Amino acid sequence: MMTLIHLRSATTSLVARTDGDALPVVLHWGSRLPDGVGEDELVAAIRQVVTHSSSDEPMSRRLLPLGVDGWRLRPALAGSAADGTRFAPRFRTTRVDSDETTLRVEAQDPDAGLAVVLTQVIHPDGLLEMATEVRNSGETAYRLDACEASVPIPMEAVEILDLTGRWCGERAPQRLPLGMGTWIRECRHGRTGHDAPLALCVGDPGFGFRHGRVWALHLMWSGDSRLYAERSPVGRAQLGAGELLAAGEVVLDPGATYTAPPVLAAYSDRGLDGISAAFHGYVRARASHPRTPRPVLLNTWEAVYFDHRLDVLTALADRAADAGIERFVLDDGWFGSRRNDSRGLGDWVVSEEVWPDGLTPLIDHVRSRGMDFGIWVEPEMANPDSDLVRAHPEWVLHVPGREPMLWRRQRVIDLADSDCFAHILERLDTLLSDYAIAFVKWDHNRDLVDAAHDGRPAVRAQTLAAYALFDELRRRHPGVDFETCASGGGRVDLGILARTDRLWASDTIDALERQRINLWTSLVVPPELIGSHIGGPHTHTTGRNASFAMRAASAVFWHMGVEWNVSSLTDGELVMLRTAIEWHKAHRSLLHSGDVVRIDTPDRPLIVHGVVAGDRSEAVFSVARLRTEVVEGGGHLRLDGLDPAASYAVSPAFLGEVPSTQQLSWPEWVAHPGTRISGAVLMTMGLALPNLHPEQAILIHLRRD
Ligand code: GLA
Repeated sequence: MMTLIHLRSATTSLVARTDGDALPVVLHWGSRLPDGVGEDELVAAIRQVVTHSSSDEPMSRRLLPLGVDGWRLRPALAGSAADGTRFAPRFRTTRVDSDETTLRVEAQDPDAGLAVVLTQVIHPDGLLEMATEVRNSGETAYRLDACEASVPIPMEAVEILDLTGRWCGERAPQRLPLGMGTWIRECRHGRTGHDAPLALCVGDPGFGFRHGRVWALHLMWSGDSRLYAERSPVGRAQLGAGELLAAGEVVLDPGATYTAPPVLAAYSDRGLDGISAAFHGYVRARASHPRTPRPVLLNTWEAVYFDHRLDVLTALADRAADAGIERFVLDDGWFGSRRNDSRGLGDWVVSEEVWPDGLTPLIDHVRSRGMDFGIWVEPEMANPDSDLVRAHPEWVLHVPGREPMLWRRQRVIDLADSDCFAHILERLDTLLSDYAIAFVKWDHNRDLVDAAHDGRPAVRAQTLAAYALFDELRRRHPGVDFETCASGGGRVDLGILARTDRLWASDTIDALERQRINLWTSLVVPPELIGSHIGGPHTHTTGRNASFAMRAASAVFWHMGVEWNVSSLTDGELVMLRTAIEWHKAHRSLLHSGDVVRIDTPDRPLIVHGVVAGDRSEAVFSVARLRTEVVEGGGHLRLDGLDPAASYAVSPAFLGEVPSTQQLSWPEWVAHPGTRISGAVLMTMGLALPNLHPEQAILIHLRRD
């Protein structure tokens, strides 16, 4: 008997049908189909002909697509017994449970000695979450080489967009055609990677932020990964993802189970903003999602680097409090012999050399000024020149008999070693118990290279152990916020964000760079989780000078912070900073809950993004001009996502400084703040822009009358 299974949200459908005891066949993933859609019409619509030189049955795409069913694209599972047998399982369904949002299938192949559990869940905002478990039900060990989840995409989806990047240059978008063949993005860093795709998107030619059909995939995983888009002359295409396993990394003993990292699939018929809406909705619905206002923080790194002195830091804290900052974060350098980055990493004991009375005097001072206190740690790493490595050289991930390579003068410690794990847990637990710490910036400053535990590949074990360390610390210290940082944005994925409350998007605070990095990070991550700081006028990482207006505009939409030696501020700069922070506090409930809207500006050097309240009563847009252009004046810009029937009061928001321009007059809405313009006009004709100088930004505030 065949049953049609229709998982659905308001915007998406996954349609499958059972097929006797074979695995269910997936008929559709994407736009929402009507409730009463019938199996006969679906099959009649899509059943393909049998041709010469092909299998005698039309090819079926099953829930776990495998070659045994004639599937000639990338299979979902690869592995074998040591002697090469058991490589081609043919699963028989033993149980199917489904309702309108969940499909759970159990299947097994007793001959191959394998059993699987496949779970697909559609979340309210449209995201499809796919989970796969593989159990070795045989009598000998089974080496698993790949276990992936994929979704069908139509052959017309011929354009790829994904992200890449580097240290201080994360999340650079790239577009290319999807021809016949496979586009595979593999990240082999032992962490997510600065070059991670974040989401692999494929869509109609020329899809943009607000138009076109797009299918996207994200892997909830912080270790090695593989994402792919594939289009085949057999007339099928798919998007898939899974953990990238090293040879022999997963060998399942009889009875053992491999649980794949979840794969998240999004679909939008309104461009990339629809993809982001699905991801943001999913992230915001999590029980652990921060629901309190995100505190504006000051991070000491670019203010003092390793130069920790109580008097300097208390003065910094005073200035920070005067500016309206709510959280003071002490970065690297407070522990062990860590006076620079060559020593002491791994020794999680407050340095008596720089903090003879412990951290309490600083923390008390910070708290007396109305701020809470945060601290930097890098628990998965150690310098060879540390008490930890001297005492336990065996706690370093390494291939036996070989010195592991250094990277930022540090090595990776072996968290899969239970003694090592227990030691680090005890140190961090003690730190969080001894001191009033509200926030932990958790860093991870190197790739894993030849990472081995007991001589075998260890990236998976290390990633799971790091997750377990986060989870246990969060359990013991539920009030503490955690930030994920990895030399800036080297570990940004929804696996790590399931256990952290903020991400440090990049080590570059350069406002111009951050316009791009933050915008594209928000492809998947909602703004309230993206850490962005106002740095000093001279950017340390790029050498570029930036106006305050530009620096502030690039920080206020996100989880705002300041990373600047605020003790050196002139009175005028302090007023500007205070104004920007006040503006952010007044608008963060909108910025951190509304819908992200981005505007395509195809051939203009503008980055335009905004947040519109769920009820469309209020919105803020940012327009940044990256460089000079041929367009005379500012040109004008169509906004989107508003209520066309509403009349909005349109005003500029100046964050302590008016951006510099080259013009004799301002547009009407700047000259006369509160100018009334309907949503319909803003969304069709648009709004005149000022003639901003390059590297300047202006904010547009809209409130429905
Ligand atoms: C990394 C981080 C920085 C800073 C330094 C400290 O590079 O990304 O923000 O914390 O480490 O060493």
